[in-house]
Amino acid sequence: MNLEQLRDLAYQHLGSRKAHQDRELGFIYYHGQRVAKIAVKLRQQVLPDDDSHDPELIAAAYFHDIAKGIEPHAIYGSVIVREILADHCTPEQLDRICKLIRYHQFRDHTKGYDDHIKILQDADILDHLGVVEIWMNFHHYAYREGTLRDSVKFYETEYRKLADRMRGALNYEVSKRIFDEKHRFVLAFAERMAVEAEGGLVNFPENG
Ligand SMILES: [Fe+2]
Ligand SMILES: [Fe+2]
Repeated sequence: MNLEQLRDLAYQHLGSRKAHQDRELGFIYYHGQRVAKIAVKLRQQVLPDDDSHDPELIAAAYFHDIAKGIEPHAIYGSVIVREILADHCTPEQLDRICKLIRYHQFRDHTKGYDDHIKILQDADILDHLGVVEIWMNFHHYAYREGTLRDSVKFYETEYRKLADRMRGALNYEVSKRIFDEKHRFVLAFAERMAVEAEGGLVNFPENG
């Protein structure tokens, strides 16, 4: 399996696709690339002595959302990827990649999924936090011609509920630590945004 080739293949399929009105062209490609990197970092924490399945983990991350928009996209994605990657890896690797993709969307702590599935699930969630979350939010309101105030309101209301749900879906403590760090950044950003959206200045010595 040649990961560079697979990255090119992912770009061919996803690089100029717009799967959702709210997202930029190619979002699924760039999201997949980021998820691959986060997944390897999580794997190093969760299974520090076992990098034997990193190539399959990376390949699955590249293509995990290929069927986004055709729901349940995880199941359809695993079917599509079996065709696309058939000539690029061994049957065993293909089985592993398809299994990872198939289950990335079904987060159920009672199911006892294997570590690589849980790692991909967590990496997928973690890419939706931090700067990427802010980017997606701005893109969402820009597409709808929303105002900066709309975004401020979102962070004061829905964002907190959404973040709680996302955190609750994570499998590992280390993922929760990464999540919390990103969440703090988003809250700090949102706090400042709320001030500047109304013409306020942060840390300005009014009477100084
Ligand atoms: Fe997905
Ligand atoms: Fe995803």
